Amino acid sequence: MTTEQILILDFGSQYTQLIARRVRELNVYCEIHPYNHIPPISHDVKGVILSGSPCSVRDDDAPMVHLAAFRHKMPLLGVCYGAQLMAHTSGGEVQPSAIREYGRAKLGTLNTQNTLLKGLEANTQVWMSHADTITSVPDNFQIIASTESVQVAAFQVENEPTYGIQFHPEVTHSTQGKMLLKNFVVDICGCSQNWTAESFVETTIADLKEKIGNDKVVMALSGGVDSSVAATLVHRAIGQNLYCIFVDNGLLRKDEFESVLESYQHLGLNIKGVDAKDQFYKALEGLTDPEAKRKAIGRTFIEVFDQEAHLIEGVDWLGQGTIYPDVIESVSVKGPSATIKSHHNVGGLPDFMKLKVVEPLNTLFKDEVRTVGKTLGLPDAILKRHPFPGPGLAIRILGDITAEKVHILQEVDALYINGLKKYGLYDQVWQAGAILLPIQSVGVMGDERTYERVVALRAVTSVDGMTADWAHLPYEFLADISNEIINRVKGVNRVVYDISSKPPATIEWE
Ligand code: XMP
Repeated sequence: MTTEQILILDFGSQYTQLIARRVRELNVYCEIHPYNHIPPISHDVKGVILSGSPCSVRDDDAPMVHLAAFRHKMPLLGVCYGAQLMAHTSGGEVQPSAIREYGRAKLGTLNTQNTLLKGLEANTQVWMSHADTITSVPDNFQIIASTESVQVAAFQVENEPTYGIQFHPEVTHSTQGKMLLKNFVVDICGCSQNWTAESFVETTIADLKEKIGNDKVVMALSGGVDSSVAATLVHRAIGQNLYCIFVDNGLLRKDEFESVLESYQHLGLNIKGVDAKDQFYKALEGLTDPEAKRKAIGRTFIEVFDQEAHLIEGVDWLGQGTIYPDVIESVSVKGPSATIKSHHNVGGLPDFMKLKVVEPLNTLFKDEVRTVGKTLGLPDAILKRHPFPGPGLAIRILGDITAEKVHILQEVDALYINGLKKYGLYDQVWQAGAILLPIQSVGVMGDERTYERVVALRAVTSVDGMTADWAHLPYEFLADISNEIINRVKGVNRVVYDISSKPPATIEWE
């Protein structure tokens, strides 16, 4: 597939992914690569953005790139550290800031005749986050914007499409940052803004057809957004040669197996539901340590999946719903070694399966996957489903797992989730679930003293699951749902609500 694109060189800034998000929101495809692992530059690359960094260009081991490889060949935009790097390597000076600038600043002086700043308003707010400042620039660097305390807030190298900005246009606090990025990618780089969900679907299906041909693909589905969208794309490309497997590990939500299976069948997928509950319960018997439970579940899943995959004759490919954040190589701040994040959801391909891997979503962010899913006509029940961990209820039952505990938690969880939907709260929280605690508490029902289980309810708001806040659910809802749970689920006499944020807590309890 040839798609015009912007290359983002990552120097380790916390905001690098945001630059990519903003560029893609302009319907321009872009890829992030570590500054020390630059791919061969094809004709599709229309411009390069150099990210920020927690490092200083004055450090002996500061991350560097050979800018001559790009300059004069294509437009360049340095953001924060990227701008300092350009100035520093061209004979300018970068010094520790007299006043450290973190937070909001105003571009008091700006040259709106310059294409990069076209349309920006005087005193437009920008977001600064730097300990170093460019204190002087070479003669051929034209200063095009300043703030009260930073003279070189933006520059252009004369007669070249090479630009640097000290602030971060990618964060929303830079109120016209998106306009600046648009000026760069559209007007300066000449990108045509034709990368849309529709064009992604069309080219991906064509690519998959060509890549897979008449081969067979096997894929495990989980009911989640990523695997469902990935499978639908592969299905559109190769039809019944895609064999989907959906495993009931006995740790799913109440009725989830049946309802998800039905919606997959409705989508026309060639899907087989496999009831492996007993196998999983057996593997989990007596295990209490969360990691031991995760490992047992991962191992059992591979056994079941491998067995099922071997029933299909002549399979060559394994389809996976891997998404972009799982594959972006993150630049480690200490030293140039680049590490690849391990995949959270899929235990990885066991070597003995020897299948080629196809991952149609490995260039998309989560919200882009949802948009593609919508374009493909997937139902909201799949697209808007809360994230659910691979090990399922096993990590929401603290301590050992038994079928009876799973049953209790499924009942509680179903009342809770349905309640959230009934009150119109489900779409407002990022993830919610119930946790069965390994303790009992005293209660009184009628005239009788009870000594029964305690459940905790958890609901969080989040953007990506990396950080999260506890959701401030209305008291009336919590009161109703607590009543309903205690009245309807036998064996539970107390409900508590988790008010911990992440960090320092995590979303799951195990
Ligand atoms: P934590 O608990 O780390 O969770 O704040 C962040 C997100 O990851 C999910 N999670 C998992 N997903 N396998 C998964 O597939 C796991 O072992 C696992 N542990 C946590 C969690 O539900 C949340 O969405």
